[in-house]
Amino acid sequence: MNRRETGSASSITKCLFPVAGLGTRFLPATKEIAKEMLPLVDRPIIAYGVDEALSAGCREMVMITGRTKKSIEDYFDRSYELEELLKARNKKTLYEKVIALSELGDFIYLRQHSPLGLGHAVLCGEPVCRNEYFGVILPDDVMIAEPSVLSQLLAVHEERGGSVLALEEVPREETSRYGIVVGTEVAPGVYSISDMVEKPAPEDAPSTLAIMGRYILSPAIFPILARQKPGAGGEIQLTDGVRTLLSEEPVWGVVYNGRRFDCGTQQGWLSANIRLAMENPLLREVVRQAIIEE
Ligand code: UTP
Repeated sequence: MNRRETGSASSITKCLFPVAGLGTRFLPATKEIAKEMLPLVDRPIIAYGVDEALSAGCREMVMITGRTKKSIEDYFDRSYELEELLKARNKKTLYEKVIALSELGDFIYLRQHSPLGLGHAVLCGEPVCRNEYFGVILPDDVMIAEPSVLSQLLAVHEERGGSVLALEEVPREETSRYGIVVGTEVAPGVYSISDMVEKPAPEDAPSTLAIMGRYILSPAIFPILARQKPGAGGEIQLTDGVRTLLSEEPVWGVVYNGRRFDCGTQQGWLSANIRLAMENPLLREVVRQAIIEE
């Protein structure tokens, strides 16, 4: 059944992870390694995003990668030398943990040859997503929520159809960092979106509802992105594409319940590590002592 033609809403199976960005805000740490592979407490950042996609029922993880991102591919694959070594040393729990990483779902890797923007990265997923609705997770925005933020978006998609964006109320002085929406609240925390603008100055922002790194998108976005001209920063912007989509199909926004950690900068990543370690009974005291001793 072609969901795009019938317009019916149902669960999604594919989640796109655009991870081909250059990570310039985190240089030089990210010069040769993927920022998504930096550890957040006990796992790489990307692992949190994959868990979120799994929790929303996705089984196909579509990674849009670039030149410095090969370690992501290796992380979710078998590692025979390591497995043999753990087995020989009788480290059963670790052995099982390592094996489990390669069994989480189907991982598909597509290359974005040059970082032409988030919209272009999403377009690179077309050969896999084709006519299906799909999830998008920007993994450096780590979301801790129950149910997961992607699941919260999916619930709205299943009820109403159409595309769904995660929204967060931001201070007015920060609007120039985000895509900002115009919408009408149709249910508590659920908005029917009528317009959006990428990174407006505080005085020009039509609201303080900002788009955060989670989306359920209609496949109708692909032809739109394919014909779209570069926007802000000379990049193919996803916000511009969704803005065009608005004139063709419904787009909803959900003010999600949960916490977001921006791990795309050194400051955000450091803060996320400290905060999440403080919530871990095994690490809480380590962090406390380290701070006290300073
Ligand atoms: P960011 O705006 O965080 O860009 O992209 P970035 O390159 O990762 O980091 P900075 O700003 O240079 O420090 C948002 C998301 O879109 C992906 C990024 O990997 C990130 O997940 N992206 C961005 C692409 O996959 N391709 C692009 O061309 C641009």
